[in-house]
Amino acid sequence: MIKLNFRNADAIVVGEENGLNIQNAFDDYREKIAQIITSLNQRKDKPGQWLQWMNLGYSEETIWYVKEYASMVQGRFENILVLGIGGSALGAMAVTEALLKPYWNLLSEEQRNGLPRIFFLDNIDPDTINGLLDILDLKKTLVNVITKSGSTAETMSQFMIVKKRLEEELGSNYRYNIVAATDKQTGILCQISQQEGYKTFIIPDDVGGRFSVFSAVGLLPFALLGIDIDSMMNGVKDMDLALKNTDIYQNIAAQNALIHYLLDTQKGKNISVMMPYSSRLKYVSDWYIQLWAESLSKEVNNSGETVNIGPTPLKALGATDQHSQIQLFNEGPNNKVINFIRVENFDTVLEIPKIFEYTGIGYLGGKTINDLMNAEADSTKVALTDYKRPNITISIEKVDAYNIGQLLYMFEVQTAIAGELYGINAFNQPGVEQAKNYTYALMGRAGYEESAHILQQKMSAV
Ligand code: PA5
Repeated sequence: MIKLNFRNADAIVVGEENGLNIQNAFDDYREKIAQIITSLNQRKDKPGQWLQWMNLGYSEETIWYVKEYASMVQGRFENILVLGIGGSALGAMAVTEALLKPYWNLLSEEQRNGLPRIFFLDNIDPDTINGLLDILDLKKTLVNVITKSGSTAETMSQFMIVKKRLEEELGSNYRYNIVAATDKQTGILCQISQQEGYKTFIIPDDVGGRFSVFSAVGLLPFALLGIDIDSMMNGVKDMDLALKNTDIYQNIAAQNALIHYLLDTQKGKNISVMMPYSSRLKYVSDWYIQLWAESLSKEVNNSGETVNIGPTPLKALGATDQHSQIQLFNEGPNNKVINFIRVENFDTVLEIPKIFEYTGIGYLGGKTINDLMNAEADSTKVALTDYKRPNITISIEKVDAYNIGQLLYMFEVQTAIAGELYGINAFNQPGVEQAKNYTYALMGRAGYEESAHILQQKMSAV
């Protein structure tokens, strides 16, 4: 199981001003945490609670269908092109970067065991879209369009461009190069898919985008790329069972949620830095940023009071950021909690050759890059602690499907518990919807005429 070490967030180590008396905090919040966990588990099947993501580990049906589809199309496509944004892209980006062989798209077909390359379009920069479409042979590309709402302007405009090009190249057979994942009834993509006859996977009700990585949103691309989704889901299920424990002393998601909440609200550490010491986990930080930011930052609390709260997530990468942001983390404002992710065993042990022994770098020879990575992680941790900066270490045994399932699910539960501690709804995103609505209005979507008029006035005033 994943391990959590929060010793360096304790006042004994980083001082009263910067750390917590963790034992007391756990005791004080023991009952509240038990209530939160019980309530989340009781509410998870109720419609409208947006907690269906807690059941995704057990959705055998989806796992079966994505595997069936993946085996049906195996060998037919050289490329998978994912069109999606936010929660409809970040999870798949994080997991594929972690679990596929490094530099996957540059490997030969043989080195990829005949599996496709993977590309994501999660933005609408016209140069990037055009650049990618110029290099992809669309005839050999499976386009996986993902949007829960079915109407997100970024994703749907990309889709319209790609669909037209596909149709130009393939005629009416183009539809076999498209697979959609969307809401089962409400969205426009669902309607288009039915009309045009695309293979479609349903994103279950009450699963928000940022909690959807273990639905078809993630599972479909993972299956197409040969990622071991059974093992991943075993990781999710094992973590789910562990996190059903209502005792904070036994529940790492509750521990990390409470520590973050108290460090923010009592000690002014409102920035949560995610810093894996593994390049393969670098997009896990992007995924975490969205999860933490979109879930916990809210204008109003559950009682309807204006609170404007929310911890700020920040990403960093070890060891790279030791030569960049660490200066800020060590000596800048003491307003952060740093989360290290440590990988106990890398797949590779890479020895540094014993050369240049007569120079000042001779000491490196004969050691491994693994030793160096660990030494850097240890030294950063010690330095931060010397500077009295609270830090937490999450250790995973290795980067594999099982551990990634555990890790991501642990962060999801941690976020849900933190939402309850802050007293806000962690599962809505009115700020995101507001921006989406303004975009619809500016682009002339029917039904948004009044907003468009107000916006025009506001824009001409500035
Ligand atoms: O987490 C969320 O709900 C959002 O980030 C969405 O995933 C994002 O806005 C994309 O929405 P959709 O999947 O409806 O296109």
